[in-house]
Parts: sequence; structure tokens; C-alpha cells
Amino acid sequence: MATYLVTGAAGCIGSWITQTLAERGGTVRALDNFSTGKRENLAGIRGEMTVIEADLRDAAALLHACEGVECIFHQGALPSVPLAIQDPRTRHTANIDGTFNLLEAARATGVRRVVYAASSSAYGNKNPLPQTETMLPGPLSPYAVQKYAGELYLRSYWEVYKLETVALRYFNIFGPRQAPDSPYSGVMAKFTRMMLNGEQPVIHGDGTQSRDFTYIENVVQANLLAASAPADKVAGRVFNIACGEPHTLNETYALLAEMLGYKNPPQYGPPRAGDIPHSYADIRAAREDLGYAPTVDFTEGLRRTVGWYRQQHAQRAAQPVGAKA
Ligand SMILES: NC(=O)c1ccc[n+]([C@@H]2O[C@H](COP(=O)([O-])OP(=O)(O)OC[C@H]3O[C@@H](n4cnc5c(N)ncnc54)[C@H](O)[C@@H]3O)[C@@H](O)[C@H]2O)c1
Repeated sequence: MATYLVTGAAGCIGSWITQTLAERGGTVRALDNFSTGKRENLAGIRGEMTVIEADLRDAAALLHACEGVECIFHQGALPSVPLAIQDPRTRHTANIDGTFNLLEAARATGVRRVVYAASSSAYGNKNPLPQTETMLPGPLSPYAVQKYAGELYLRSYWEVYKLETVALRYFNIFGPRQAPDSPYSGVMAKFTRMMLNGEQPVIHGDGTQSRDFTYIENVVQANLLAASAPADKVAGRVFNIACGEPHTLNETYALLAEMLGYKNPPQYGPPRAGDIPHSYADIRAAREDLGYAPTVDFTEGLRRTVGWYRQQHAQRAAQPVGAKA
């Protein structure tokens, strides 16, 4: 079996990709600097996995990590939009220099393909819905610009050096292991935790904002397909990865409340500055050229996620006083 490198492997999405590759018999190098990723996300993964504690800004470490690798799944990034606004330099170096360093290392060591975690934030707020890959991007925040710059670099490395690259524009991914402060779908993790604790979640705005919430298993599927699809169909391209349906925050709240037996109606707070009202994806290109088909829908994804948080909640409750995080 092939050797794979997963960057950002201790994060939510990276750890699920690492786990799936290892379970399927691949040899996996799980690289992370553990800035936001957690070691516990990699604990318990069975199979051939080596953890590499390294920073994407360390070009020499990346060169070493890429030796003998067939395909890279590049998930490592500092993803917070608000923090990227407060401190764009740190994010710029992790997200843009990090991606550049990785592409250089891949090129130097003869890696066949790089699959990249791109972001729907590349669309900004201007485009009609659903968003398609042929639309002109309009990234607004520094984070969106950084993720989009990565896409452009990938495309250039395919055109110029024939390094096979595939960029997957993720739309609001959610599932177990997601940090409650995640800028994407943290609302689910946050609402679930608060409802489990008997606290009152607040919806910012009127709750009619909608997102194309996508369960983690669908994203892992897209990554595996992107690694193996024929180069003549996918190299140098960008694909939306989502479920192709919008769901409002009001709907999300109601479903979570029903699953958790939580009785309080939502409380509404002031809308958040810069909040995009609606976002959802046209996923026809991924269906046709990657063979992607979401297998876990929104409601089933929520059910599984709630199950995981319930388990975490029960484990925390069983810990002795003083040991709780
Ligand atoms: N979650 C989503 O909805 C979503 C949407 C669009 C794009 N993305 C992209 O998907 C990827 C994974 O997102 P996630 O939700 O799993 O985030 P995450 O924060 O859980 O994972 C990111 C990982 O990257 C690591 N990392 C950060 N900077 C690093 C550096 N300089 N060197 C090495 N490792 C570093 C972190 O420690 C963390 O483990 C990111 O690239 C993100 O931009 C995510």
C-alpha cells in the first residue's frame, strides 16, 4: 500500500482522513504542530501511522516528511476568520507560506498528487446561489484570501511542474471532534454542549441564515476520491464539497433540541457583523468527475454528532472533580 502524508492530522478533518487511510491499510504520516489540533484525536488510530510534530513553516521538515510519499492530504491551516482579522501575519505564514513550502517539498521529492482543503469562503458574499466553481471568486476576509491563494498555487504547480493537484472547497463541515469554537459549524458543537448542560444558546440574527452543513464522512469520501481519480479528469481543478442543500440555524436548533429533549425556544441576539446570509453549493462537478455522492445527510449527521457529544458529556461528568476540562 502507498505512503500518505496528512497535514493538520490532529485537527478534526485531518484526523478522520488519517484514521480512514490507516484502517484501509495505508502507511500514514500524520503531521501537525498541535497549535489547535489535539493528540487525543490521533490516539487509538490503528494501523501504520507515524506522528510527525512539525510546522508547515519549516521547509526542511516538510522535505523530510514528503520523502517516498505518494499523495498528500493538505488539511493543516489556522482556520479562524476572526483571528485572521486580528492577526493576519501569523495566519498568512501558516496558510500561504505553509502551502507553498509543502508544494515545493512535494515537487522536490516526486510526490504524485496533492489534495488540498480549500474553502467556500473563496466565494465571499457576492455570488448568486448555488455557488458553482465557474463563478469568479470574491474572497473577503484575510483567511478567505489565504485559502484561495493556496488554490491558485496548486493550479500553478499543476500547469508549470505537472504536480497533480486537486482543491476541494469545503462548505461548513461538522461532526465528532470538531472544536466548539470552530468558525465553520461550531454553532452545532456549541448549541449541543449548551443544551446538554441545560444552558440557553443564543442565535445571532433571526436564525434564517442558512449553510450547506456537511457531515465529516462525506468529506473523507471526497478526499479519497480526489486522491485516486484519473489525472485527466481532476488535476489542476477545484471542486465544491458539500451536500448541495441549505439548512437554516432555526432548523438546526429545532432538530438538536428535539434530539436532546431540550425544551427552551431559541433566544435571539444581535446579528454578527459580516455574517454571510446564505451559502450553498452546486456539487455537480464533484458528482460527475470525482464520483462523489454524499452518503450521510444533514439529519443523520446531526444524530451521529449528538451521539458523540452525549458520550463526551457523560465521560466528563464521570470524571473526578478537578479533572474536568
Ligand atoms: N471545517 C470546515 O468546515 C472547513 C471549511 C472550509 C475549509 N476548511 C479547511 O479544512 C482544513 C481542516 O479544517 P478543520 O476544521 O479540521 O480545522 P482544525 O483546526 O481542526 O485542523 C487544522 C489543523 O492544522 C494544524 N496546523 C495549523 N497550523 C499549522 C502549522 N503551521 N503547521 C502544522 N500544522 C498546523 C492544527 O494544529 C490543526 O490540527 C483547514 O485547512 C481548513 O482551512 C475547513
